[in-house]
Amino acid sequence: MKVTVNTLAKMKQDGQKISMLTCYDASFASLLEAAGVEILLIGDSLGNVIQGQTSTLPVTMDDMVYHTRCVARGTRNAMVLSDLSFGASQVSPQKTFENAARLMAAGAEMVKIEGGMVMAETVDFLTTRGIPVCVHIGLQPQSVNIYGGYKVQGKSETEAETLKRDALALQAAGASLVVMEMVASSVGKAVSEALAIPVIGIGAGVDCDGQVLVLHDMLGVYPGKKARFVKNFMHGQTSIQGAVEAYVKAVRASTFPADEHSF
Ligand code: KIV
Ligand code: NA
Repeated sequence: MKVTVNTLAKMKQDGQKISMLTCYDASFASLLEAAGVEILLIGDSLGNVIQGQTSTLPVTMDDMVYHTRCVARGTRNAMVLSDLSFGASQVSPQKTFENAARLMAAGAEMVKIEGGMVMAETVDFLTTRGIPVCVHIGLQPQSVNIYGGYKVQGKSETEAETLKRDALALQAAGASLVVMEMVASSVGKAVSEALAIPVIGIGAGVDCDGQVLVLHDMLGVYPGKKARFVKNFMHGQTSIQGAVEAYVKAVRASTFPADEHSF
């Protein structure tokens, strides 16, 4: 059955965990959805894992559109979610809409934007004009040069409160989904409980409404540094299909992420 915003909302209501993985091509798209992954994210992590860049900043909207088309062709039931690349969502709500519309025309069903409260106006602009939005809060990889590295976010009590306040504001602005990256498990839990919309964690603890990983990380094929929140699901498996099924099962059973993958 087709996964829509309504499916995701109902899964949260029913306490069913949502599985998301990144995906960049048609062959993996059909494999991942056959294994039960609900959301395929064309992440700008393609800069790292496909292009060999050291950050997501060099990725262009043309790159995102190309990979969105590839994934959309291989997908029938999963939701297709695409990232706005660096520079595509920061200038104005109007420019963001133009870029997001390119992704929607390429086959995306929702777009993802990095940023907190500052993006509320943009979220409202897009969602009142036909484009569902996922907001990416906590660690925002496009802001790596502001942080001076990939660091756990929301560490102090005030920062954790700001995260929650931002998430609530973005939900009020019309966001359908949240991705929350690299925050303490307690923050992941508090934000997931505070929101009516689903919160998908990556390094945000087991109490989020779902989980996401970069495909190349969870298959153990990315040669770069492995983050604490990554688990190689190929271990003990004899096929990629088996590894992805093990991931979906672990997310559904809340056996992933374990404490060793959390902050
Ligand atoms: O680009 C990406 O892969 C992402 C995930 C880390 C959520 O945004
Ligand atoms: Na991304």
